[in-house]
Amino acid sequence: MKSYVTINFASSLDGKIALKGGKSFKFSNYEDLVRVHELRSKSDVILVGKNTVNLDDPKLVVNEKYFKSDHIPDVAILDTTLAVNPKARVFNYPRKVILLCGKDARKGPVLAEGEAETVIRRSTLIRPNSSYAVKELGSMGYSRIMVEGGKSVISSFISEGNWDEISIFYSPIMVGEEGISMFGPLSNPLTLGSAEVLKLGDGVLVRIKKGF
Ligand SMILES: NC(=O)c1ccc[n+]([C@@H]2O[C@H](COP(=O)([O-])OP(=O)(O)OC[C@H]3O[C@@H](n4cnc5c(N)ncnc54)[C@H](OP(=O)(O)O)[C@@H]3O)[C@@H](O)[C@H]2O)c1
Repeated sequence: MKSYVTINFASSLDGKIALKGGKSFKFSNYEDLVRVHELRSKSDVILVGKNTVNLDDPKLVVNEKYFKSDHIPDVAILDTTLAVNPKARVFNYPRKVILLCGKDARKGPVLAEGEAETVIRRSTLIRPNSSYAVKELGSMGYSRIMVEGGKSVISSFISEGNWDEISIFYSPIMVGEEGISMFGPLSNPLTLGSAEVLKLGDGVLVRIKKGF
């Protein structure tokens, strides 16, 4: 099955997704959070990088404050060496948490403490890439994948072309050059396609669909 991949994140006006040292910051306003939580409610699995889990400790659920839904999306974490924090809050819900690891990751279970069922999927690569993640999650029956960051994961999925839709919410805030940029180094500029712009409260949403 070919899964539909939506990359979603929030940024300052100067293209930063976190503060100095990777400290997280809520760039989304209320209107954007309603949109994000609705998108989560329609996603089968939310994919993030290991650093986002270990640094920000997100729950990655649908919060009824923003959108009402009983759906609890599964979570996939790109984690080469299985170094995710087993006490992270993503494990606290009745769902699957899939750890996509590299071929040399240590053997044996990850003894996470919450209610989640932890599933380890081992790539044949030293580091699991975004193509592996999409293929593996597709083979597990996930048809709608939402990618929520962080910087390295966003950069991998976009530069490797593994996306169908990109949504970036821009908040009217400047973070300054010490903040964490939304994208890593590129040898050549990437052209993504035609952008659609929507005003959301005091910020704007930029949405790009592949092929449009
Ligand atoms: N504003 C937003 O919407 C938003 C959303 C999420 C996160 N963030 C911010 O993003 C920052 C974290 O970004 P980050 O770049 O440090 O971490 P990240 O993208 O969350 O995770 C990156 C780590 O994942 C592992 N990984 C395994 N396979 C990978 C692959 N194919 N591509 C990319 N990573 C892979 C790597 O570690 P190993 O190889 O060691 O496993 C890599 O260092 C935090 O400051 C957080 O606050 C912002």
